[in-house]
Amino acid sequence: MAKHITDKVSWVGKVDWELTRFHGDEFSTHHGSSYNSYLIRDSKTALIDTVWKPYDSEFVSRLKREVPLEQIDFIIMNHNEVDHSGALPELMREIPDTPIYCTAKGEAIIRAHYHQDWNFVRVKSGDSLSLGESSLTFIEAPMLHWPDTMFCHLSGDNILFSNDGFGQHFASESLFDTDVNRCELMAEAMKYYANIICPFSPMALRKVKEINALGLPVSMICPSHGVIWRQNPGDIIQAYLRWADAYQEDLVTIVYDTMWQSTRLMAEAIADGIREQSPATAVLIYNAAKEDKNDILTQMFRSRAVLVGSPTINNGISYAVAGLLEMAHGLKFKKKKAAAFGSFGWSGESVKIISERLQHAGFELASDGLRLPWVPDDDALQQCRLFGAEFAKSL
Ligand code: FEO
Repeated sequence: MAKHITDKVSWVGKVDWELTRFHGDEFSTHHGSSYNSYLIRDSKTALIDTVWKPYDSEFVSRLKREVPLEQIDFIIMNHNEVDHSGALPELMREIPDTPIYCTAKGEAIIRAHYHQDWNFVRVKSGDSLSLGESSLTFIEAPMLHWPDTMFCHLSGDNILFSNDGFGQHFASESLFDTDVNRCELMAEAMKYYANIICPFSPMALRKVKEINALGLPVSMICPSHGVIWRQNPGDIIQAYLRWADAYQEDLVTIVYDTMWQSTRLMAEAIADGIREQSPATAVLIYNAAKEDKNDILTQMFRSRAVLVGSPTINNGISYAVAGLLEMAHGLKFKKKKAAAFGSFGWSGESVKIISERLQHAGFELASDGLRLPWVPDDDALQQCRLFGAEFAKSL
């Protein structure tokens, strides 16, 4: 069912209550998600984005109940990953000549996905499209988070349609930030940033500053996932400015895996050492094999430093820690210190391997790490506490 946003703008998207994994298995969505599509009715009618393919026929039949499809004058595709363009083929079967407004990269990506010669209209930053009393102004936003991405701004209602930017995987009965738990919402927005937008932080910082400099009035931000920022859209803009600028809190995240509890004992003793040395610093401990990887990565994003531990297994490290370090490498966290630790029986390569992977992922090593044989006794645990204290001093 369509939902009212303003006299001109309605939400015609799909709330996906069932979604637990996004981007394959790359992103956990504890609160589901939504694929937001917006209908603007002025003298002309424009549709902004569509929904993911599994919901294509549902989307088109609900859209038909809202507006005769032939009355849609323009389709605006801000970004063409399949969660937003997946319903285009179903829609274009009904209105094959309707122009699709997108960036040049957007046209290439749509063609590469759907292999159709639709009526594309390429737009660039600063181009505008009159809808009657109001108009849409396009703002290219390449690599936020795909090369094709653009935002558009609706005059009159002063709405910024930002696609994935400022989005959250957050299914809700309500369309608006004002009607949901603020802490949960901001946590999901940060998780989205940390796990999807973070690699593109330099572009995000530049784009947000550029949009601020344009002086466009923004009374609402309508992203392509989650709720609309209506209460004070400046808050999420300010949050992006902080998150994009090597964000960190006074927090250390310790991540480990363990076979027979020795590396866990080390992790907990290291945490004690950090707390004794630096009582104001928060310390979080996660078992990488048991906790959600995206939640751990979000805490790593928040942290000023991380400690990563694994026992040595077959001359290597645990698959859970290896996977996490691979994801951290892709997310390009900035200005975070790190160190490795782990127990071993005979060969003991894990600390060296983790240290190398931390460096490869852009972390600054605070020490050579700590490796201990077999099961730590009281003296060994004291070594761990001293290691934690030294690590805290280095921050
Ligand atoms: Fe929500 Fe990049 O698609």
